[in-house]
Amino acid sequence: MKIFPPAAAALIALLGASPILAQDADAGKTVFKKCAACHKIGDGAKNAAGPVLNNVIGRAAGTFDGFKYGKGMKEASEKGLIWDAEKIAEYITNPKKYLRAYTGNKRAKAKMKFKLKDAQQRLDVIAYISTFSESAMTPEKAATMSEDGGDTMATMPSDIPTNAICVQNSGQETYFFAVDGGGDSRKTGHLEPGETLCTGALEMAMQGKVSVFETEDHLEGCTRIVASGMVEQMRKYADFDRCLWSSNDG
Ligand code: HEC
Repeated sequence: MKIFPPAAAALIALLGASPILAQDADAGKTVFKKCAACHKIGDGAKNAAGPVLNNVIGRAAGTFDGFKYGKGMKEASEKGLIWDAEKIAEYITNPKKYLRAYTGNKRAKAKMKFKLKDAQQRLDVIAYISTFSESAMTPEKAATMSEDGGDTMATMPSDIPTNAICVQNSGQETYFFAVDGGGDSRKTGHLEPGETLCTGALEMAMQGKVSVFETEDHLEGCTRIVASGMVEQMRKYADFDRCLWSSNDG
């Protein structure tokens, strides 16, 4: 029998998920059909009953150009809500409840009248949405970016574990990185340009955190949430435009 580290077990309890849940973007494509009644995604997507969901990961809530958001969402946006995988998962479970909790306004209304109750479907649909968000880097995406001659020149490791949280140094210098999937999976190291650091194989964490700092003594950098099986590429410790928050926020 396997003893799971308490922190990971707590994470699972929090997400209300069973340990076997893994994210599956292909399955998420099917789930997205439910969202597609209101949301468009991909090249040429236009606002419909709901806003376009391209690049929604890392986006400030309620800010897609030309969409008329409800008051509750605007309020949340003003209070600093920035979407990441975890927050979207909570939001789509119950938009009204989420906005009320986030804004502290018990009368806040949600314009999105839809709830996705199934935890596995939430994970999958977010994995799918992530493939349309630049700040959520998938190995496939990183590979196409390099082919396009973007500034992501580092080659991706061919054997990315699907059950690990990984970060790659896509900068030109050595920085100090940390990856954390909960429990005792945390690993740190100085990565040369192009080097990748992954947590040990995770039994259950769906997502973890990757951070980059200038050095281990200079712990002002940035931290991002990354889904298991994806490799986040970070350029430099102060690459705040690609960070959801600075590490100082905890
Ligand atoms: C019945 C229509 C409808 C369905 C179905 C729907 N949404 Fe929405 N969604 C909306 C509307 C309308 C908004 C804008 C909410 C507001 O202004 O309060 C929204 C907002 C969002 C936002 C915030 C976007 C932003 O720009 O801040 C996310 C994320 C989102 N929806 C995800 C989903 C996902 C994922 C699904 C499918 C599981 C889904 N929605 C299904 C109507 C819908």
